Amino acid sequence: MDGRPIGVFDSGLGGLTAVRVLRRILPEEDLVYFGDTARVPYGGRSRETLLKYSRQDLRFLRSRDLKAVLIACGTVSTTSLETLQAENDLPIVGVVEPTCRRAVSVSRSRRIGMIATLASVRSGAYEAVLRRLDPSVEVLCRPCPLFVPLVENGRFRKGDVVIETVAREYLTPLLEWGADTLILGCTHYPLLEEIIADVCGPGVTLVSAGEESAYELKRLLKAQGLRNDRERQGETEFYVSDRAEDFEQIASVFLQENLRHTARRVDIEGY
Ligand code: DGL
Repeated sequence: MDGRPIGVFDSGLGGLTAVRVLRRILPEEDLVYFGDTARVPYGGRSRETLLKYSRQDLRFLRSRDLKAVLIACGTVSTTSLETLQAENDLPIVGVVEPTCRRAVSVSRSRRIGMIATLASVRSGAYEAVLRRLDPSVEVLCRPCPLFVPLVENGRFRKGDVVIETVAREYLTPLLEWGADTLILGCTHYPLLEEIIADVCGPGVTLVSAGEESAYELKRLLKAQGLRNDRERQGETEFYVSDRAEDFEQIASVFLQENLRHTARRVDIEGY
C-alpha cells in the first residue's frame, strides 16, 4: 500500500488520453499531471532538446513525492525513456513496449501500421520493439506532424474539414499498404480517434499508446505492492507551462468534466 501520487506528463494535452484511462482503472489513486504547453509540439525536436525538456518536466513532477511516473508522451518515450529511467530511482513507464505488445496480439495479417511524431518515427523505437516481439510482422511507420498542432488548437471534432482532409492524406498510404492494425503512437492521436476510425473503416484495429501504458502502470503498481487501497476517490492536479485557461477549455471537453480554475501554471524553465 502506497498513498503517494503518480506523476504523468506530456508536451500538452495528449497525456490526458492516459489520465482518462488511469482514472477509470485506478480510481483511488491521486495523479499529478504536467503538460508542457509552452513548448508543445515536441515532435520535430532533436534528441538533445527532448532530453532537456523531459528532464525538466520530471524534475518539476518530482518536486512532489511520487511513487511512479507515466511518460504519457510517445516522443519522450521513444527518445529519452532509458536515460530518464537510469537517472531516477522510481518506476517510470513509457508507452512503446505496452503498445507494441497489444498491437502484436491483435494483428491477424501481421501488417502493423504506426503513426506518430517525426521524432518518434526517426527513433525507430516502435519498429524495433515490434520486430523483437514478433520477427514475422511487417511494419510501416508514418509521421503525422500536423496532428499535434491541430489537436492543441481544438481541431479534433468530427465534421472539421481541415482535420478530416489531413487525416485522409496521412492514413491513405497505410490503408493501401494493407495494415489491419494501426498504432496511434502519439498520445495526442486518440483525441482524433473518431476521425481516424472513420477514415480507416472497421477492418483496422486502432491501438492507443496512452491507453496501453495506463494498463501497464496498473500492472506494475500491483506487482510492486504500490497500489493505494483506500476507499475514497483519488484526485488529479493539473499543471501547465502556459495559459491554464486554454488547457482547461480543451481538457474539459476531453475528460468530460468542468476543469475551470483547476490547472495551475508553472515556470518550467526554472526546473
Ligand atoms: N503527445 C506527444 C507524443 O505522444 C506529442 C508530441 C508533440 O508534442 O509533438 O508524442
